[in-house]
Amino acid sequence: MSLDSLSVRVSAIEVVAPLIREFTLEAVDGALPAFSPGSHVQVVMPGDGREIRNAYSLCSDPRDSARYRIAVRLQEHSRGGSEFMHSRVRVGDLLRITPPANLFSPFSLARRHLLIAGGVGITPFMSYITELERQGAEYELHYLYRSSQTGAYRDELQQRLGSRFKGYDSDSGVRCDLSALLSGREPGTHVYTCGPESLIEGVCSTAKALGWPESLIHYEAFAAPQPGEPFQARLSKSGKEVDVRPDESLLEALEREGVTVPNLCRGGVCGQCVTRVIDGTVEHRDAYLSTDERAGGACIMPCVSRAAGKHLTLDL
Ligand code: FES
Repeated sequence: MSLDSLSVRVSAIEVVAPLIREFTLEAVDGALPAFSPGSHVQVVMPGDGREIRNAYSLCSDPRDSARYRIAVRLQEHSRGGSEFMHSRVRVGDLLRITPPANLFSPFSLARRHLLIAGGVGITPFMSYITELERQGAEYELHYLYRSSQTGAYRDELQQRLGSRFKGYDSDSGVRCDLSALLSGREPGTHVYTCGPESLIEGVCSTAKALGWPESLIHYEAFAAPQPGEPFQARLSKSGKEVDVRPDESLLEALEREGVTVPNLCRGGVCGQCVTRVIDGTVEHRDAYLSTDERAGGACIMPCVSRAAGKHLTLDL
């Protein structure tokens, strides 16, 4: 094992919802590193002439160093990652993953944790719940899903959590009233949400409208990079010219050419990959830069954002 990558063997694959498969990953070589609730790993997969790295939350017990579990939703417009996991990976296969990193920890001093999950966004909360139970913390889980597609672990969670669990199956017409859910909460309650952008946006805007301080609102969105127009990145320090194809991110194209850029989430939220732009216009697609930073045009998050024209010159 190296510091930036771990080799794991797939020891089990289970269908946990119509579009979601759970993969159990065991260490090939000694124990796996410990992780904290809310952590994720990147799975490194071969793509069409490139390497794909997708981030997946760890759903297993953070204190179990023998195995990790991840759950992968088959994306309708997969760029190859979720399709690879669903159709190519078999029990016994070896996979390469990055060590766990955490951008979404529960706040240890919260009086109460209000967890709101949408679809496969349940995954980080699986490790939260194990740890919150251990600590005897006050928490409740609200789980929005479509039973024809997602809803993984809902029976297990219903049994484990009893009255602390509330499920909302939109295929049965059961909706969640975010305003009612977020109103009249006791001071010291923190809200956490993970799931589709529309849910995150709904929770954040409703909480803010009800007067929740931003410091009590936590969210995690793993936005996979969306395809776009091809363009060329010129690297001012090395003199390299890197062609970015429509179906790959700028970060993936740089990695393909051996250019290393620090990254954690690969979804435009953590800020690790920020890169200075020397020339060209950016089509910003991240959730990290401020409105002023975007307007200034001096930086790009290459994991999701692209050139608005045919070229970008980067300080690399
Ligand atoms: S890797 Fe997190 S914002 Fe790009």
